[in-house]
This record gives sequence, structure tokens and C-alpha cells, in this order.
Amino acid sequence: MTAAAEGGAGRFAFTPENLKRAEAIVAKYPEGRQRSAVMPLLDLAQRQNGNHLTQDAIEYVADFLGMAKIRALEVATFYTMFNLEPVGTNFIQLCRTTPCWLRGSDAVCQAIQDKLGIGIGETTKDGKFTLVEVECLGACVNAPMVQINDDYYEDVTPENMVALIDALERGEKPAIGPQVERQFSAPASGKTSLQMPVAKILASRPPARGAAPADTPVGEGDD
Ligand code: FES
Repeated sequence: MTAAAEGGAGRFAFTPENLKRAEAIVAKYPEGRQRSAVMPLLDLAQRQNGNHLTQDAIEYVADFLGMAKIRALEVATFYTMFNLEPVGTNFIQLCRTTPCWLRGSDAVCQAIQDKLGIGIGETTKDGKFTLVEVECLGACVNAPMVQINDDYYEDVTPENMVALIDALERGEKPAIGPQVERQFSAPASGKTSLQMPVAKILASRPPARGAAPADTPVGEGDD
């Protein structure tokens, strides 16, 4: 850590606990490559700072790593995982990319806006919810989906999305993953393959060319 990252009055600084975490993260990188830790350290700073980064926090991370402030700022402003403004305690990221869109993300988005009385990119007055639209979050098989803070909620519909928000408003922690009767990414309509026991599948296969039929006694048919 450089002297500039030691923090002054009112300046962002890692808590003692996060300082240890930051040092452990930096230690994973080879000597001279510590700047590569900029993303996990920005993430750590964001988590400490109520899920958003201030310029002060970004500069602190730059100083911590001994890198030019502008380099850390470039990273923080490039990746959408970094929030540059305060967000609600429930940060809803709605996927709007094609698979989710084809499966109804527009209707889910509208239901969230109607329920919370906010538009895309806005935060409720009580600071509890922020809604943003994002691109594919890699859970297309369970489209449409939303990410709320660190958790994925999949197979969302306007109805179960409103129920999710109600649960969060009550301070509950809804079950993550599919919001319909579905095991993980298994077909929503139930099993469609591998329904037969393996032994039965093998027995039903036609004999290999040149092989004796299954019911031919051993020795018969051999010349
Ligand atoms: S398109 Fe929505 S998760 Fe991939």
C-alpha cells in the first residue's frame, strides 16, 4: 500500500477487515503485477461503500495499487458491474438480451416499474429498490431472469416478480433460482430424455453387424 492510500480525514479507506482481504487479494498476483488486482479491489471498495463507488474510493484503490488514478477510473467506468451512483439496497438488474426478451422480459420490466413506481435507471424514494436493464447474464436457459444484488432469480413472470418484490419488501430472503416448478435447468415440462433404465436401453439396441442375435446360444452359427 502506498502512503497516499493510508487515508485522511473523511477519505475513503478500507476497514481493517477489508484491508486484510485486499492484501490477501494483492498477494495472489506475481511481483510487479499487483495492478491486476484492480477489479477485485474496486469490487471490495464498492461492497464496503453500500454498493457504489465514489471517485474518492476509486482513487483510493489506485493509490493502494500504486497505479495512475485515471487507469482505475477507466476500469470503474467501463464495467457495468461497478455502480458510479448510489443504488437501492435491492439492486435489480433485469436481463433484456434476446433469449430473455423472447421469453417476456419486456412484460417483467413493466411489472417491476408498475409495482415500484420507478423507471429504468431509477431508485425508489425509500432507497430500497433500483431497477436497471443489463445484457445477458449467462442464465439464458432459465430466461427471463433478473439479478438482485448477488443472486439470480430465473423463470420470472410479471406475477412471480411482483411476489418477489413483496417478499423483499417484507425483509424476507426469497429462494433463488427458478421461480417456477422446475429443477435447476431441467425441462420445465418434465423429463424428455434418459427416462428408460440404462439396461433397458442397451437391450433394445439392434445387434451390431455380424454379431449373433441375442437369443442365439453360444457356439451356434459358428462355422
Ligand atoms: S439472455 Fe438473459 S441471461 Fe442470457
